[in-house]
Amino acid sequence: MSAPGPAGRKDDHVRLAADQQAEGRRGNDFDDITFLHHALDGIDADTVDTSVEVAGTTWALPFHINAMTGGSAATGRINRDLAIAARETGVAIASGSLSAGLDDPALLSTFRVLRDENPDGVVWANIGVERRPDDARRAVDALAADALQVHLNSIQETVMPEGSRHFSGWLRSLEALRDAVEVPIVVKEVGFGLSTRTLSRLTDLGIRYADVSGRGGTDFVRIENSRRAGADYEYLTGWGQSAVASLLDAPASAPVLLASGGVRSPLDVVRALALGARAVGVSGTFLAPVLEGGADALIARITQWSAHTRALLAVLGAATPADLVHSDLIIDGSVARFCAARGIDITAWARRSDAAPSTERSRHDR
Ligand code: FNR
Repeated sequence: MSAPGPAGRKDDHVRLAADQQAEGRRGNDFDDITFLHHALDGIDADTVDTSVEVAGTTWALPFHINAMTGGSAATGRINRDLAIAARETGVAIASGSLSAGLDDPALLSTFRVLRDENPDGVVWANIGVERRPDDARRAVDALAADALQVHLNSIQETVMPEGSRHFSGWLRSLEALRDAVEVPIVVKEVGFGLSTRTLSRLTDLGIRYADVSGRGGTDFVRIENSRRAGADYEYLTGWGQSAVASLLDAPASAPVLLASGGVRSPLDVVRALALGARAVGVSGTFLAPVLEGGADALIARITQWSAHTRALLAVLGAATPADLVHSDLIIDGSVARFCAARGIDITAWARRSDAAPSTERSRHDR
């Protein structure tokens, strides 16, 4: 059962998310994506440029620390470690929902530490879609944020003991938030995916960035359910689409996509990039080292991921993350069944390099 108040909820979320990490590496939809290996396609790792442009900023690495926490003394200390790791490795970082700090300014410092420790880095603020335009401005100002994440979390609210049951105003609220801030807005889920229909609605609203944040990693049905007396929503476990399914099903007109949800390794990062994500968010997998070994442990983890991401791009012959659009992906298992149900041609994904320009091939053909 939950400790009372928002601070207790924030501590619960961290503890329960960490428990899920401690259960060990779980299979998810990323396992259904395999790169077709081309033994002569490799390039030199030191020529790979891993940088990406996201929402008006340049990131040295195509992955980031995604929204997690703040709002209690303990989570303020975690944010400090996350911020130091972001500063030392140069990755972008998103705050947890600033709601607690907006409602109780005494708690704002537990979020502001993300900017205080990382004055020159890319820092995103985060609020729920039901918040008011003035809250959005205050959240951005509090962190001098480079962008504002707005989370859509109807399933989490439904299972959360103190959660909302009122979702009909969300589209209008999102419109108001869009007009309230100068910085880009990144709409995100919290682990249940963004469908084709949702992405199209975002495009219609003029939202230019969306993080599909899908199922298969941190599971907020299980987190909120274990905070309920009676844990009576257990049957909702597994709701939603994975990041992989969301990316495969995204319409051509979708906003620029970020992917998160169940990213466990640099291979998952590269898979998500190959499926069309501009950059990749990691929450649960990066929380575990921080809780075990503080900022140093996360710095070591991110440094390793950076080297591995570069190495994987080199072996795949991708000089930049964008070049991964030419990689051939074999889609298997439940993701293949999802594609069949949605009419997505998996053969086209397995033969993308046929159409790709290849210096070697044209030289040979001459
Ligand atoms: C989250 N997540 C989250 N998302 C959000 O938009 N606002 C928030 O306040 C939080 N809070 C939060 C706390 C903790 C402890 C975790 C682990 C996660 C959701 C997160 O950003 C992401 O969408 C999901 O966790 C899926 O990614 P992972 O954890 O599987 O990498």
